[in-house]
Amino acid sequence: MENSNQRIVLTGFMGVGKSTIARLLSCMLGCEKIDLDSFIEKKEKRTIAAIIKRDGEARFRRIETENLRRILSENDAKIVALGGGAWTIEENRRLIKQNKLTSVWLESSFEHCWRNISLSKRERPLAKNKSGARKLFDERQKYYCLADWHFVIKPELNSFEIAKKIAEEVFSAKIN
Ligand code: S3P
Repeated sequence: MENSNQRIVLTGFMGVGKSTIARLLSCMLGCEKIDLDSFIEKKEKRTIAAIIKRDGEARFRRIETENLRRILSENDAKIVALGGGAWTIEENRRLIKQNKLTSVWLESSFEHCWRNISLSKRERPLAKNKSGARKLFDERQKYYCLADWHFVIKPELNSFEIAKKIAEEVFSAKIN
């Protein structure tokens, strides 16, 4: 990897493919990645859906920020995949900036995200129905566009091609 000091967070709406692209990037670049949601689930010993349903979204956001802080300060993973709402919280954006990570927005159409949400077995309490998810999607665009880089996920590109593009452009890596 040429730009070896670069660390990034991947953001974007639920269903855009953050975790998949983080996994592919970590394979391509041979570096560690962390998925914030999985990290939280391991620490809390329960699913994100269970946290939100039992304790509410506000409590989940506090847990999310605590764990993001921990990841950013105690871990030097080069790639961090955020949950879809994490980047919309000002404190989280501040932590990311303070720790000098570059933010990458995976931008896609609502229909693309919704298709993946509906096909996924993962429970997402904040996207229970299409109209609610659409509203959230629209409200969040103003936060996502604050990210340092934007990659538009076009239907003709697969996840491997998107990861390759990010590796080449953000990390200046040569991927064959
Ligand atoms: C959320 C997205 C989820 C998860 C939680 C809340 C959100 O992650 O963090 O259900 O507010 O958009 P994914 O984006 O990986 O689905």
